[in-house]
Amino acid sequence: MAEVTSVGTGRAAQVISLRSTLPGLLRDPLRTMVDVAEAAAGEVVQLNLGTIRPYLVTEPAHVQHVLRDNAANYSRGGNSMLWKSVRRLAGDGILGEGPEWEASRRRLQPHFTAKRIDSMVDDLSRAVSDAVDELAAPVRAGRPVDAATEISRIICQAVIRVFFGDKIPVADGVRVVQEQDVVATSLRFRLLAPFMPDAVPMPGDRAFQQAVSHIDEILLPLVRRERAHPSGGDDILATLASARDDAGRELAEQRVRDDLVSIFATTTETTYVVLTWLFPILDEHPEIAERLYAELDRVVRPGEVISREQLGELRYTRMVLDELVRMYPSGWLVPRTALADDVIGGTRIRAGGTVVLSPYVTQRLSRYWDRAEVFDPERFGPDQPRRAHRYAYYPFGGGAHQCIGMYLFALEAPLIVATLLSRYRFRLEQPGMPRPQLAASLRPGERVALHLLPLGQVVDA
Ligand code: HEM
Repeated sequence: MAEVTSVGTGRAAQVISLRSTLPGLLRDPLRTMVDVAEAAAGEVVQLNLGTIRPYLVTEPAHVQHVLRDNAANYSRGGNSMLWKSVRRLAGDGILGEGPEWEASRRRLQPHFTAKRIDSMVDDLSRAVSDAVDELAAPVRAGRPVDAATEISRIICQAVIRVFFGDKIPVADGVRVVQEQDVVATSLRFRLLAPFMPDAVPMPGDRAFQQAVSHIDEILLPLVRRERAHPSGGDDILATLASARDDAGRELAEQRVRDDLVSIFATTTETTYVVLTWLFPILDEHPEIAERLYAELDRVVRPGEVISREQLGELRYTRMVLDELVRMYPSGWLVPRTALADDVIGGTRIRAGGTVVLSPYVTQRLSRYWDRAEVFDPERFGPDQPRRAHRYAYYPFGGGAHQCIGMYLFALEAPLIVATLLSRYRFRLEQPGMPRPQLAASLRPGERVALHLLPLGQVVDA
């Protein structure tokens, strides 16, 4: 299976031949990456994908080296296919690299601190509750609902109210999320064939470009309006629109647009994509569903707006969500470009090489996870021993680029799950675990349709 190349000093990476991986990569790329990582037994290996040979870095200590210890050598600004495409959508800002990224991070971080998010819990909970109320109509009509559509709508309504001062009409926000989906999924052809030069047209390219234009048509006028008539609010749109650079100059409109697009995309898509997996998982594991329902029945009455005290009591719900992002981390692919030669775990990395990290792969390594393919929230129970390595579990990345939405997710996700499942039980229209679809974020490849069954009487909150 392996060829060996010889490069300068240090041990050459074992190269995994295209012939041995291609059928698997085409059939089930994620499974194949896990299999390659298992076989590599803790070493960095190179995947021969024809004209490019990315390094697959999965061992937790090596992940830490790339994301934290020698992070300055591993850039998002390079040529990796994912970040090039992200730049075409999100420009140079919070999802970029270098001084522009740093400035964006400084501007946005205050909106996502634990203190700030804690202060918003009541508003967030009320907004989630109002959004879940809207399910009553399709339920009364006996119509199944699409989990992805409804969860993304609930998130959109909640974040638009709480983070964007209600300045984005919800219907527009929902359209932006739909266009983001086109962006994420139209990338799959290029993800499968990262060796194809940009100049060669590929399926998905046109859809990608059109989706980016549609997002701009919706979000740019909001930036212009806010700049023409500053609201003086402290929501994210106002913060970005009124931001100044270090010299006190107004930012270029493009920079404001880039951060608005990035933060809207990350706030909405990552969370709904994760939560869509919950329903087939609960359907597959009735004993876990029962325990979750028992906790919800004990803590929340149907129709209630969940308080921060109740949220604190949802311990099993949080364990289920921790396990959900172990098995289905939406940011499954975290590539970097090596700026200079380096050595990781004794293996030589060449300057300019693409280094592929994947929380999905590391979080399924049998060396670190007992019965890695089994969904088991107990792994995150209070009495569990300390994890073998900090980077055996990194659904939110690490180092300077660690996810700024991590804390928001920790509060928003249980609020959504508890609000929804304290009011309804569900039945899947199509039982069975969907296979993941290869896209920029990890999403079910098939529609998850739910029949929602109301619970008890709705009480006045
Ligand atoms: C809840 C709303 C969320 C928001 C607002 C958000 C926002 C962001 C932002 C702005 C970054 C870039 C940070 C930087 O480079 O300085 C980031 C990074 C990241 N996020 Fe999130 N995110 C959210 C949820 C999630 C979820 C649910 C996951 C996965 C389960 C996730 C996984 C990641 C990962 C892996 C990175 C690191 C990317 C890298 O190192 O290149 N995020 N997030």
